[in-house]
Amino acid sequence: MSIPILCEEVIYRYPGQSAGGTGRDLAAGLPPLPGVGPISGSIPAGQYLALIGPNGSGKSTLARLFNGLLVPTSGRVRLGELDTSVEADVWEIRRRIGLVFQNPDNQLVASTVGEDVAFGPENLGIPQPELGRRVAKALAQVGLEGWEDVQTHRLSGGQKQRVAIAGVLAMQPEVLVLDEPTAMLDPVGQEEVLSTVLALWRELGVTVVHITHNMNEVLLAERVWVLAEGHLVADLSPRQLFAQPELLAELHLDLPVVPALVQQLNASGWPQPLPSSLLFPEELVSALAPWCPGGGRS
Ligand SMILES: Nc1ncnc2c1ncn2[C@@H]1O[C@H](COP(=O)(O)OP(=O)(O)OP(=O)(O)O)[C@@H](O)[C@H]1O
Ligand SMILES: [Mg+2]
Repeated sequence: MSIPILCEEVIYRYPGQSAGGTGRDLAAGLPPLPGVGPISGSIPAGQYLALIGPNGSGKSTLARLFNGLLVPTSGRVRLGELDTSVEADVWEIRRRIGLVFQNPDNQLVASTVGEDVAFGPENLGIPQPELGRRVAKALAQVGLEGWEDVQTHRLSGGQKQRVAIAGVLAMQPEVLVLDEPTAMLDPVGQEEVLSTVLALWRELGVTVVHITHNMNEVLLAERVWVLAEGHLVADLSPRQLFAQPELLAELHLDLPVVPALVQQLNASGWPQPLPSSLLFPEELVSALAPWCPGGGRS
């Protein structure tokens, strides 16, 4: 189950901040726009969207607008039939949109894994034995089946993030908003979290909004929103994004590993220029196959 997200001319300004922050102000060293918008756009139910952009471009602000932690200064954010500006809708919205943040150490609230995952649904008033069933199911969904009694302080960063995701899943959300969920993890922890998110998206069909600075993670998504200075400046597929070197350079974005490798192979005089559209390892392997032993061009 999942619901769509609709932004209608959404503007958010942090209270007490100046309204300055045009591109010219930035160039003059003045602070960026304190907030976002106007932003309009929709994310269909079940889509996997990557939200990217430089520091301060408004990604976390938009994530908080999606689940009603922030309410637009003007415009509307709708989740299906619910509206974050309508106070009576906000609890339902928070239940249906789970937010996972960057720091694995300040998201867990209880001393054991089971108590932590139970925290959200318990606050919703879910009684036993349904509560226990939800916790067990959510832990199984993140690959931590039977970990209820483990002390949270003994977990690795990746395991903590999976417990945080399980805590959100126990609320049975329809949208997962992940704000740089791998930024503080080592490669093993990153892989644990990314494969968990992908499996949940595929198996539960939830809408995923994945905020990241990692261009390899962008390749997991079906669609990308690029924010700059509080505005939505590009709405395109990962393939379209990485085919626009000017946009990437303007936003100081890196290339994912395969296109970066293709660029270097071509620059080093590879016998026949490789297409810059190659994105995934399998595509690169096929393109290089003719030069492999037995491939006909070695
Ligand atoms: N609590 C706050 N009070 C005032 N201004 C804020 C607050 N939080 C963010 N801002 C401002 O709002 C703008 C958008 O910030 P936001 O945190 O949403 O950016 P971001 O894209 O998530 O950045 P990062 O990549 O660093 O996480 C920035 O100009 C920021 O300084
Ligand atoms: Mg942020």
